[in-house]
Amino acid sequence: MTINVHYKLTRMSVESDKGSYHQRVFMISPEKTHAEYLDTILAHHQHNANNLLQILIAAQDVHGYIHSDAIDHLSEQMALPRSKIEGVAGFYSFLHLQAAGDYRVLFSDNITDRMAGNIDLMKSLCSQLWVEPGKLSEDGLVCVGTTSCTGMCDQGPGMLVNNIAINHITAERINAIAELIRERVPLSAWPASFFAIEDNIRRRDILLNSQIQPGAALKAMLARGDNATLQEIKTSKLRGRGGAGFSTGMKWEFCRDAAGDAHYVVCNADEGEPGTFKDRVLLNGYADTVFEGMTLCARIIGAKQGFLYLRGEYRYLLPHLQAVLQKRRGQNLLGTSILGHEGFDFDIAIHLGAGAYICGEESALIESLEGKRGTPRNRPPFPVTHGYLNCPTVVNNVETFASTCLITTHGGAWYSGIGTETSCGSKILSVSGDCERPGLYEYPFGVTIAQVLADCGAQDTQAVQVSGPSGVCISADEFNRRIAFDDLATAGAFMIFNQTRDMFEVARNFVHFFAHESCGFCTPCRVGTQLLSNMMDKLADGNGSPYDFTEIEKLNVLLQSTSHCGLGHSACNPVLNTIEKFRPAYDKRLAHKDFIPAFDLDRALSQARQMTGRDDTGAHLESSHESK
Ligand SMILES: Cc1cc2nc3c(=O)[nH]c(=O)nc-3n(C[C@H](O)[C@H](O)[C@H](O)COP(=O)(O)O)c2cc1C
Ligand code: SF4
Repeated sequence: MTINVHYKLTRMSVESDKGSYHQRVFMISPEKTHAEYLDTILAHHQHNANNLLQILIAAQDVHGYIHSDAIDHLSEQMALPRSKIEGVAGFYSFLHLQAAGDYRVLFSDNITDRMAGNIDLMKSLCSQLWVEPGKLSEDGLVCVGTTSCTGMCDQGPGMLVNNIAINHITAERINAIAELIRERVPLSAWPASFFAIEDNIRRRDILLNSQIQPGAALKAMLARGDNATLQEIKTSKLRGRGGAGFSTGMKWEFCRDAAGDAHYVVCNADEGEPGTFKDRVLLNGYADTVFEGMTLCARIIGAKQGFLYLRGEYRYLLPHLQAVLQKRRGQNLLGTSILGHEGFDFDIAIHLGAGAYICGEESALIESLEGKRGTPRNRPPFPVTHGYLNCPTVVNNVETFASTCLITTHGGAWYSGIGTETSCGSKILSVSGDCERPGLYEYPFGVTIAQVLADCGAQDTQAVQVSGPSGVCISADEFNRRIAFDDLATAGAFMIFNQTRDMFEVARNFVHFFAHESCGFCTPCRVGTQLLSNMMDKLADGNGSPYDFTEIEKLNVLLQSTSHCGLGHSACNPVLNTIEKFRPAYDKRLAHKDFIPAFDLDRALSQARQMTGRDDTGAHLESSHESK
C-alpha cells in the first residue's frame, strides 16, 4: 500500500477550570507509516471483526476520514469484504469515507440550541470561512454542518469540532473560532476555556448525594450472598431508567437463568434522546458507582466481560473513564478473583459510538458492539437470552446501574420506601430550555411538573416536553401531573418552553430529528419520517391545509402498526401532541382550504433544470400545462 504521509501517535491534553481531559490525536511525523499505524490498531483490537467499529473510529483519526487505502488494508488484514467495511462505516454519521476537512464543525441542532440561536451562529461561521453549510471548503480545510443533540442542552448552544465538544457558543466565540481555523491552529492549542464542560448539578437526592466508597457495594453483596442481593434488588422495585421501565431485578434473574456459558453485562451510555444529559454527569462524577453496579450485575448473572457503550459525542470522557477502570483494577475491584473471591472474575471495556441515535435501542446497540451497522434486531428473543454474540446479556442504563449500588448498600426495603407505590426511588431529570437554572435535578418519584418548574426558575411556561421527542408534550393545565411510571414516565429529558415559543417549530425540529435518525431498515419508518418532515415543512412554508392533519393521522397509524422499533412508533408523537394542545400554532399556517401535495414536483425538478441549463417556461410544469 502506498501512503506518502507518515504519522505519530501523540496525546493532546486540555486543561480547564472544570478539570482536564486528554484526547488521543494523531499528527504527521516521520515515525510511523499509515499501514504500520493501522497494524497497531488491528493488533490492539486482536484483528477481531467484533471490534470493527472501534477500528474504524481509530483509523479515521489519521486523515479525519477513512482513506480508501485504509479500507483495502483492513479488508486484507481482517479477511472482510471491502463492502462490509464500507457498509459499516457508511452507517455512522461521524465516520467519513470521503475527505471531510481538517476541521469538522458540527453545530448541535436540538430545539434548545435553536432557541439559543445556533443557526445564526452557524451562518456567521460559514460566512467568515467562505463555506456553505454541509459542504467541504474548496481548500479542504473545513466543513461546517449540524448534528443531532450533543447532550449539552444545559450549556448550549453547543458544537463539536473534530468530535470534541465546545459549549456556550457566542458571536465572539464564533469570531475566535473562525480565526483559529483560518490560521490552521491545531485544536490542542485552542483556548482551554472553550472545552470546559459543566456538571450543573442543581438538586441532589439519594443518588447524587451518595458517597459510596469504591468496593462498599461489592463487599455488601459478598457478605449478604448473590441470591439475597438479587432479592434486595427485586424488593427495591427498581425499574430501568433508560425509558422502558422494565424491572431490573427480573431482568437480572432472567439473564442469570438463561442457558449458555458466557453471559455479558452492557451499560447503555448512548444517551441520544435530545434534551437528556444526566448520564454524561453520572459518568463524569460517579463513574465508580456505575462500574460497581455493573460488577454487581456480573456477579449475579455470572458474567466475565462487560461493556460500556459510550456515545461518540462523549468521547472527551474516555480518558477519565479509562483511568477509573484502571484504578479499580489496581484496587482488585475488577480483574481476576475480585476482592479475593476465587472465580469472581470480571472486567469492563469501553466501546465508542459514532453518531447514531438508534444505537441507544438495546438490540441496535448490541449489533453496534459486535462491529456492525446499528440496526435493531427482531424481538423476541430479547437480549437477556440472546444478546451480545447471541449470549445472555443484561443491558441497563447508566442511572440504573448506579442505583443498584445504593440498593445493595442500603437494602431493597429502604429504597422501595422512597418515591411512590409503583415508582420507587429517585429520578434524575435533565432540565433545559426556558429557565434560569438549567442542569440536573434529582427528585424522589412523584414530584410534580410545577415543583420542578419552580425549582429551576422557569417563568411564564407554556409547555414542557417530558422524555424528549419520543416522549410527551404537556401544557400548563397539566403541570400538576407527576414524574412517575404510571403518569409521566421519562428517561430524564425535561425541556421547557415559555409563552414566546412557537410550539409548531418545536414539533418540526423533533420531526426532522426522527427523519435524520431513522436507521432506514424498514420502509414505513424510512419513508414515513421523511414524509412527515416534508408535511411539516410544507405547513411552515404556508402551503398547508386541514387535509394535512388527516394525512398525519394516517401516517401515524401506519408507523405505529408497521415500524420495526420504538423510533418509528414514536415519530408522530410530537406532531399529534402539539396539534392537540397547541392547535392555534398550526391553524395560523393554514393558508389553503384545498389539499396541496407535500411533494412539490416542480421544485424537485429545479436541480435538473439547473444542470441542463434549461429554465424556460416550457420546463415548468404549470406553464407547460397551461400551454396545452
Ligand atoms: C430509539 C430508542 C433509543 C433508545 N436510547 C436509549 C439510550 O440512549 N439510553 C438508554 O439507556 N436506553 C435507551 N433506549 C432504551 C433501551 O432500548 C433499553 O430499554 C434500555 O437501555 C434498558 O435499560 P434500563 O432497563 O436500565 O432502562 C432506547 C430505546 C429506543 C427504542
Ligand atoms: S423503525 Fe425506523 S429506526 Fe426502527 S428499525 Fe425501522 S427504520 Fe430503523
